[in-house]
Amino acid sequence: MFSTKLVLFSLLVAAVACEELDFPPGFQFGAASAAYQVEGGWNASDKAENIWDRFVHDKPHFVADLANGDVACDSYHLWRRDIEMAAELGLHFYRFSIAWSRLLPNGFADKISEDGLNYYNNVIDGLLEKGIQPMVTLYHWDLPQSLQDLGGWTNPLIVDWFGDYARVVFSHFADRVKIWITINEPLSFCDGTYSYGTNAPGIYDPEVGTYLCNKNVLLAHAKAYRIYDKEFREMYQGELTLANHLMWYEPFTPEDEELTETARQYMVGRYSHAVYSKEGGWPPAVEQVVAELSKAKGYSESTLPAFTDEEIEFIRGTFDYYAVNHYTSQLTRTVDDGSPGLNVEYEIHPDWKPTQSSWFYVYPEGIRKQILWLRERYGDMKFIITENGYSSSIGLQDTERIEYYKEYLKQLLLGIKEDGLNITGYTAWTLMDNFEWTDGYNSRFGLYEVDFSSPERTRTPKASAEFYKNLIRHNSLSIYDEL
Ligand SMILES: *[C@@H]1O[C@H](CO)[C@@H](O)[C@H](O)[C@H]1NC(C)=O
Ligand SMILES: *[C@@H]1O[C@H](CO)[C@@H](O)[C@H](O)[C@H]1NC(C)=O
Repeated sequence: MFSTKLVLFSLLVAAVACEELDFPPGFQFGAASAAYQVEGGWNASDKAENIWDRFVHDKPHFVADLANGDVACDSYHLWRRDIEMAAELGLHFYRFSIAWSRLLPNGFADKISEDGLNYYNNVIDGLLEKGIQPMVTLYHWDLPQSLQDLGGWTNPLIVDWFGDYARVVFSHFADRVKIWITINEPLSFCDGTYSYGTNAPGIYDPEVGTYLCNKNVLLAHAKAYRIYDKEFREMYQGELTLANHLMWYEPFTPEDEELTETARQYMVGRYSHAVYSKEGGWPPAVEQVVAELSKAKGYSESTLPAFTDEEIEFIRGTFDYYAVNHYTSQLTRTVDDGSPGLNVEYEIHPDWKPTQSSWFYVYPEGIRKQILWLRERYGDMKFIITENGYSSSIGLQDTERIEYYKEYLKQLLLGIKEDGLNITGYTAWTLMDNFEWTDGYNSRFGLYEVDFSSPERTRTPKASAEFYKNLIRHNSLSIYDEL
């Protein structure tokens, strides 16, 4: 009798302690992928060439081991297995992207591919049959080459082209898809392409190209959002936003705080301020930095293209939540050399552990600080983590990935419970190892390992898959802590 009571009592104490590590009831867990990284079938049926197809074929030396996504995980043929894996994990939702050139081979809405429609209908229906919600990204970096040939994201007409594409997608899929991401990580493809020349289509034009892309992307996102608002929202009640890549910047010393804030505005604000801030438009600090640089370089005006008042209104408020893609952080240090522009050096804290990807060090606190910063700048809103995950080499015993997930998820729990952040969902990047852009198949982010040497592209769960499955089943991290 007495001992039973004692056992009950200890269980109760344990339960109270655990609650700290429980996610709020109804919290949604998912995993993500992107068309070019998993689908393969690059020339299947009437699919047209996109900028990644062209890039990996014409400039193979840009990619590690001369790898490409021609076959990748072959999800174009193996989508049933992908859905089975999502079900094995018990995911509430699966995030994937639509390949524009698979659905609209001409890039324009004049021709819709039957096979493209069938493919995405199969994926969506297959997920729903298992009770898994589809979360769909319209654009994850794979622009139809035909549109690139007309200037791609630097041509302001892309705002209408993207709008037409979005309307086709919504017309066919919005009856079943309720969570949308219009454009994934514009920073990665605008800055990645034009400021660094390392992403498809590999055009280096940092002073002008980057900012044309930046402006057009914001307008294109807003166009899709307005189309949804006007033509689909009443019927389907879905939620949309764009997803931003957020690298947290931490000042090296307190004196570095001011320039660090400018660096954050340059990285995050440049793709957020127009949409989420009350006043809209470019962040003032960014306008100033680019104007200074442009002047020093001899341009007649700033190469950051101005918004008209109408454009500011058009973009402002076009969100239903904030989509957070976060992996890592950097330290920022002021370099006082008196030159125009943003005089900051980026460093890594010696305590932050490296990963398989050169840009990626582990600093769990960064994710909470980043979201707090967003709430402070743009007000209280709903946040969904749309990407977070760990980069390793090959191997099924991925304890470091489990550790990463635990630590980052704990920071999110602190954000929810101590800071009252309204975070309602979390997306692991990624369901399975896949084509990691210019890293080829060297950096592995998957919960499932993929054997890229087998024609079947065999998928095998890693230890982290088991971890994620249990986390979802219990809606809690408590099972992993010492009690
Ligand atoms: C598709 O591309 C593969 C190479 O990835 C090639 O061997 C095949 O001939 C192509 N098929 C068509 C129909 O062009
Ligand atoms: C979170 O945001 C959603 C959408 O705006 C809202 O319905 C919900 O009440 C919010 N929850 C909290 C705890 O603020």
